[in-house]
Amino acid sequence: METKVALVTGSNRGIGFEVVRRLARRGYRVALAARRLAAAEEAAGRLVAEGLEVWPLELDVTSDASVAAAFQALEERLGRLDALVNNAGVLLDEDRRLPGLELPIEAVRATYEVNTFGPLRVTQAFAPLLVRQGGNVVNVSSVMGQLASAGPGYLAYRSSKAALNMVTRVLAAELAPRGVRVNAVHPGWIRTRMGGPEAPGRPEEGAEPIVWLATLGPDSPTGGFFGPDLKPLDW
Ligand SMILES: NC(=O)c1ccc[n+]([C@@H]2O[C@H](COP(=O)([O-])OP(=O)(O)OC[C@H]3O[C@@H](n4cnc5c(N)ncnc54)[C@H](OP(=O)(O)O)[C@@H]3O)[C@@H](O)[C@H]2O)c1
Repeated sequence: METKVALVTGSNRGIGFEVVRRLARRGYRVALAARRLAAAEEAAGRLVAEGLEVWPLELDVTSDASVAAAFQALEERLGRLDALVNNAGVLLDEDRRLPGLELPIEAVRATYEVNTFGPLRVTQAFAPLLVRQGGNVVNVSSVMGQLASAGPGYLAYRSSKAALNMVTRVLAAELAPRGVRVNAVHPGWIRTRMGGPEAPGRPEEGAEPIVWLATLGPDSPTGGFFGPDLKPLDW
């Protein structure tokens, strides 16, 4: 069997970094992607020092040119793609502080660029490789994107993840006949720069359900939204 390949966006720190480590431990060759090459190299270096096969890749999910260059580099260097984890995400300070009525539209737009358009842009670019392998796309979403439990605050983040959930559903339906699964996942409330120091979960725990979805085989679920316990969540 040839070695499988995975790509994890925004994986120089936080949950994504642990997803890279876990996939590499399972024998995947993993592209550790970050918007700054130096950050990707530094993070990948730490995992290579653990004996893992991890390859740094520059990839800013908001840039068509960066995504196209990353596609070319990955295709040349690794030649295939079995799992794409759309992990990069932002929760902007003004979104934490301000009610929706006062939130600058520019902050909403900037959030969507990373959290919603980013996963769509990257999936569009890498779909040809994923179709060839019958691979998995994992969109790292959040319960904050659930319509069923929506409350006040975090308008940009909540709505960007709700839209990401719909992107997940539509792409899952479109790619199912071509053998590619697309699922969304809430990793739990995790202690990272985004989750904050009060969060109960460790990044290793947040990585678990993501790795499960990234390594699904044929005849597995697609178009789902799963929680940290691997159970389906309400949309
Ligand atoms: N932590 C939680 O409690 C929690 C809960 C639910 C869902 N999530 C989701 O889990 C995912 C990972 O979050 P985290 O907690 O690990 O956050 P984090 O520690 O803040 O890491 C976010 C990552 O995204 C990267 N990123 C931001 N903008 C980017 C861009 N334009 N292109 C490429 N990468 C970019 C960051 O890179 P830089 O280092 O360059 O900034 C960083 O590597 C996110 O999608 C988040 O919404 C987290």
